[in-house]
Amino acid sequence: MTRRVRITDVSPRDGLQNEPGVIDVASKVRLIELLSRTGVDEIEATSFVSPKWVPQLGDCAQVCDALAGIANDRWPMLSALVPNEKGLAGALEANRRAGRPLLRKVSVFTAASETFSQRNTNATVAETIRRFEPVVKAAHEAGLLVRGYVSCIVACPFEGVVAPGRVREVVDLLLNAGVDEIDLGDTIGAGTPETIDAALSEVGRSQPLDAAARPTTLHLHDTFGRAAACVRAALDRGVRSFDGAAGGLGGCPYATVAGRRAPGNISTELLVRTVREAGFETGVDEAALAEAGRFAVSLRTA
Ligand code: HMG
Ligand code: MG
Repeated sequence: MTRRVRITDVSPRDGLQNEPGVIDVASKVRLIELLSRTGVDEIEATSFVSPKWVPQLGDCAQVCDALAGIANDRWPMLSALVPNEKGLAGALEANRRAGRPLLRKVSVFTAASETFSQRNTNATVAETIRRFEPVVKAAHEAGLLVRGYVSCIVACPFEGVVAPGRVREVVDLLLNAGVDEIDLGDTIGAGTPETIDAALSEVGRSQPLDAAARPTTLHLHDTFGRAAACVRAALDRGVRSFDGAAGGLGGCPYATVAGRRAPGNISTELLVRTVREAGFETGVDEAALAEAGRFAVSLRTA
């Protein structure tokens, strides 16, 4: 079994979407440049969602245009969230303006909870899957990979506990819709090593968790300080791909409930350290990552 673990930094997207203030394009681009020097495998650069829903990322086109203008032969894979055909059109248009496939992957997103899906995308889970089908087809025709996120793999901020079997059902819907890889989100950081293992064990019945060509990624938020223990449990179960956010920023604005703001992602710094201490390799330069993390934290608006 491979000892190499794939790391995606989602701080420019998940990290900045939940900040109360809107961060300027130059700072976002600076964060992405700093991350590109760390050796992470992928950077989730932005999100082509409705600016009415997430004004913090309403500058997605400008961020891509600025990235396209930077000479950098060290870009890792850059990806972006797209909720529908309009979002994909924005991503493809950014690539067209760049004159090259600046974004090599797009990510669609749904949930294992109906209420969360409604709050986050104004659609039932089944409706999100129907929306994705033409997105996946057109993305593939354009030569892009497609990641499929499932939120609330342990618990939903509105419905409470989510059954592992439901997570697997939604994974199967995404795989049938043609996504290339699955990303499992513990959106509110409710997971424990046991509940994460239970979800992974179910998903592992649908596809091998350690397949490098078709990775299953774990996306943890770290509300209760248990995310590192969950990473160790997932490594034991065979997962070889994880998301983190430099500086531990992050959270979905639609996971916020009264009096409780959505929790931050596991910091990529803690993620990489945990993976290394468990005896795996990431290829990440931890000093460069610490610098990116300090910069990410300096962008906080509250
Ligand atoms: P809707 O209001 O039902 O959509 O929202 P609509 O089709 O009626 O469109 C409403 C307006 O938005 C229209 O503009 C559209 O043109 C525009 P108007 O005519 O009113 O001027 N619009 C768009 N604009 C730009 N880009 C687009 C787009 N689509 C429509 N792609 C919609 C449906 C899905 C658009 C909306 O609910 C949305 O954008 N949701 C995104 C919410 C979001 O980004 N959440 C955070 C990311 S998910 C997450 O954080 C979880 C994750 O980290 C994993 C985990 O932790 O679990 C991934
Ligand atoms: Mg998230």
